[in-house]
Parts: sequence; C-alpha cells; structure tokens
Amino acid sequence: PTGLIMDAAGRPLHDLRISVTDRCNFRCVYCMPREVFDKNYAFLPHTALLSFEEITRLAKLFIAHGVKKIRLTGGEPLLRKNIERLIEQLKRLRTPDGQDIDLTLTTNGSLLSKKAQSLKDAGLNRVTVSLDALDEVVFKHMNDADFPVADVLHGLDVAHQVGLGPIKVNMVVKRGVNDQEIIPMARYFKSSPFILRFIEYMDVGASNGWKMDEVVPSAEVVQRIQSIFPMTPLPANYTGETAQRWHYEDGGEAGLISSVTQAFCSDCSRARLSTEGKLYTCLFASEGHDLRALLRGVGSDAEISTVLGQLWRVRDDRYSELRTLNTDGLTPARKKVEMSYIGG
Ligand code: GTP
Ligand code: 5AD
Ligand code: SF4
Ligand code: SF4
Repeated sequence: PTGLIMDAAGRPLHDLRISVTDRCNFRCVYCMPREVFDKNYAFLPHTALLSFEEITRLAKLFIAHGVKKIRLTGGEPLLRKNIERLIEQLKRLRTPDGQDIDLTLTTNGSLLSKKAQSLKDAGLNRVTVSLDALDEVVFKHMNDADFPVADVLHGLDVAHQVGLGPIKVNMVVKRGVNDQEIIPMARYFKSSPFILRFIEYMDVGASNGWKMDEVVPSAEVVQRIQSIFPMTPLPANYTGETAQRWHYEDGGEAGLISSVTQAFCSDCSRARLSTEGKLYTCLFASEGHDLRALLRGVGSDAEISTVLGQLWRVRDDRYSELRTLNTDGLTPARKKVEMSYIGG
C-alpha cells in the first residue's frame, strides 16, 4: 500500500516535520509565553516521546509515500538528548528511487556553536535558525530567557563554517515589539551568507493572545525595505515553497512568509508528527491521529502504511486560507495545538 498519494485537494505528501521535544530553553512571546509555559506547565514525560527507532520506522513509511524532505523541530530540537543518533538513522533512509532525503532542522541557535560540527558529521544537510532581532534588549524581550544575541550570531557563523548551509534565518515580526528591527535585520543579513525570511505572526496555538493588529503584513515589510534597499521578486524554488523570494538589487536574497495575509494552503504538502507520535495534517488541526498506539501495539509496517495513506487521502485542511478570508480577529473558536508541541 505504498506509492505517491494525493490528498482530497490534490496535494502530494512531500514534507515531513517531526517534533522531537516539546521543551525549549526560550520563552518567545509569540510561541511559549512565560505566563503559560511556567514551572507548573505539564510537558510530556519521557515515556510519551517517540523513541528514535519509532521515529525512524515511521519516517521510512512516510518516505515510501513520497516524502522527500524531513525537518526536525520542537520545541528546541537540540535539547533532545543524542539527537545526532536520530540524524544518523534518518540519513540512511532512501526514497523509492534511491535518492537521499533532504534532512534539515529548525533551531533557536542557542546550542548551535557547540553542536554544529556533530550535527554535520551525523549527516544533517542544513539548519534554519530563528532570530527575531539584533538589538540585545529587543532580542531578550522576544526570547524572554535573557539569551544574548551574540551567541546566536556565533552559532550561525559556526554552522556556516562547518557547511550546514544554505542557512535560512527566520524572523517572526510582531508589531510594536520587534518591527523596528526589520531594517537592521535586512541590512545585516543581505551581505551575509544567510537568507533572512520575515514571517507574519500567526494565530497558532491558544496561548499567545494573537491579535490581527499585531501582524505586520508582508506587503508592509516589503514596502519598508524597498524604501531603503530596492528589491525585485524572484520565482519560487519549488511548488509549495512557504516563502516568496526577493532579490536585493545590490545583491542578496530575502523571503517573506505570509501565512496570514496570503495563505499558501493550496500547495501545502506538509505532514507534522508531534513529539508523542500524533500525525497532524495541518498546523492548525484540532486533533492528531495517534500513530504511537499503532507502533507500540500490533500494527505491522503494512498496516501503519495503509493508515498513513488513508489519512492523507482524506486531508482537506486549509486553515490559513479560511482565516485569510476572515482576519478581523473573528477566527472561529476552535481547539488548537501549541506550535512547541506540533513543531514549527
Ligand atoms: P525550506 O525547506 O527552507 O524552504 O523551509 P520551509 O519553507 O519549510 O520553512 P521553515 O520550516 O523554516 O518554516 C518557516 C516558518 O513558516 C515556520 O516556522 C512557520 O512559521 C511557517 N510555516 C511553515 N510551514 C507552514 C505551514 O504549513 N502553514 C503555515 N501556516 N505556516 C507555516
Ligand atoms: N507565528 C509565526 N511563526 C511562529 N513560530 C512559532 N510561533 C509562531 C507564530 N505564532 C515559528 C517561528 C520560529 C519557529 C520555531 O516557529 O518561525 O522561527
Ligand atoms: Fe522555543 Fe522556537 Fe518557540 Fe521560541 S519559537 S519558544 S525558540 S520553540
Ligand atoms: Fe498547510 Fe494548514 Fe498551514 Fe494551510 S494552514 S499551509 S493547510 S499547515
């Protein structure tokens, strides 16, 4: 029961994002606000997490269904003990026609200077690093963990030196909090080896208190940058790319990820596996499908594979598109899972 599959809207399964821990050493205001994720917050117990063997077994079945790219996320994936061992296991997998998997990871960069070399040695292809400001005060306000910006910048440089590129930098823009950093970030990264991507602040999860007026629409970000650094649009690298790419006239590239004002659900080929092994077919899905029960029960590979195919074929999620039609704060009251749990 393998082979390429399409969902109910004709979208293939291409990209698997695996959350390896729901914990993080940052408390970014848009993701894990400290008031909610405090010392009483019930993170998953160790026994709930999928083991590396379980993750690899599932990944292999997903690859048989067409997955070509795997991204490790969290929480902060570098907090997961021995993550290099998982990378080694995943790196050995091949697509049905014998191709390598594009294996990548999204990190806050705090442990990157220490771990970049061992990640590279384990077989990781590249990393994406979250960084929301260059100004120390603004950055510390965003991460709410007193973490200095210089350490992330150093981590980026080490990752580049060991060959974990091309490296992308993700900046979530929240109006009135870090939007004054748009130009300094653009300036710093346009003449660097890193591609900066501006991300619209999303209404993901239920704890960040999202409001539409805190979103800086990408059109506004572009306008602000254009007035200082002229840019021209670039074509997409591949179908379903999250970012719209722009080229600075004097060299360098930037990206805009506009999931609020210009949703990209129509080409969304991403499946998400939560830390405890639930499959989510959308970042905004209310419920996931428990694959761990199958893994730890009597499910054979063939049975699990059939379930994966069935889940993808009926998929009709397009939350962001529906929300784009209605961004006035009237998002339908629904249960949403936290980004730190489901993976970014
Ligand atoms: P590349 O392989 O480097 O192109 O990665 P990517 O485009 O998948 O980007 P990345 O994983 O860095 O995602 C960047 C950000 O885009 C995420 O942190 C989210 O904020 C947002 N994002 C990614 N995928 C989705 C999605 O499926 N839906 C929505 N609404 N937002 C997404
Ligand atoms: N809106 C947009 N992006 C978010 N992320 C986390 N929470 C949000 C949000 N509310 C993304 C950021 C970060 C990654 C780990 O998760 O891109 O870089
Ligand atoms: Fe941690 Fe990333 Fe969420 Fe920030 S955005 S709290 S670094 S998982
Ligand atoms: Fe995909 Fe859901 Fe994001 Fe739309 S909102 S792009 S369907 S994950």
